[in-house]
Amino acid sequence: MSSLEEKIQEFQDIIDQAKHIVFFTGAGVSTDSGIPDFRSQDGLYHLKYSYPPEEIVSHHFFVEQPEAFWEFYKDKMLNLDAEPNTTHKFIADCEAAGKSLGVVTQNIDGLHQKAGSKRVYELHGSVLRNYCTSCSHSFSARWIKETHGVPRCTECGAIVKPDVVLYEEGLSEPVLSGAIAAIQSADVMVILGTSLVVYPAAGLVNYFSGKHLVLINRDVTPYDSNADLLIQASFSDVFPKLHV
Ligand code: APR
Repeated sequence: MSSLEEKIQEFQDIIDQAKHIVFFTGAGVSTDSGIPDFRSQDGLYHLKYSYPPEEIVSHHFFVEQPEAFWEFYKDKMLNLDAEPNTTHKFIADCEAAGKSLGVVTQNIDGLHQKAGSKRVYELHGSVLRNYCTSCSHSFSARWIKETHGVPRCTECGAIVKPDVVLYEEGLSEPVLSGAIAAIQSADVMVILGTSLVVYPAAGLVNYFSGKHLVLINRDVTPYDSNADLLIQASFSDVFPKLHV
């Protein structure tokens, strides 16, 4: 049995015995659905734009250059036809089987819910929710995708904003406290597809005090040494071999 096969078997044994799993995911779980992540070689932050993409998705850029923000956002952040993949479905199946407390995600693509996950803590919000910055009227992502240039409220004409946490913005307190409570109650924490370099999200790992910390990621992360089980592999080589 190869080292990877041994680790997958070890992970399967942990899943079999677990009662309160919490999953913690990043953009890496959606790459198999065709959505690029941020920091891999082919990630969004390596794209050449007139401004660094990490600056474009900031609050000050949204306010000062709405045209350039919305051009990048509609082009690169709205993947509305993406479908959940094996990893999303495994996470949802664990919840359906009563083994998981839910998923804490940094992702804004809504694919965990599309896969059937019910308890999803969206630390960075969701592209599926959009609202007027003045009268709070809400708009769908489909409506946003079909607008030309800067989306403006049909009720009052003000600029519409996605319910996404941009750099320089704070996270939702109720979401954060819900995520921390789930992590503190978990016996197993499974971290998937994140470089764990963005805070406060990455710091949530420190609230875990359960039995097994599992980290599955293709590249190295600053938390690799904290993991009880570290699997450096692509999800397509891992999740098809697992069952709930
Ligand atoms: N299989 C396994 N690992 C993968 C796969 C895959 N198919 N695809 C990508 N990965 C891993 C990469 O190795 C990388 O370390 O997923 C990780 C994704 O890291 P990032 O691109 O940094 O994404 P993430 O950690 O979610 O970013 C956090 O940064 O800009 C902010 O708000 C944004 O939520 C985002 C946050």
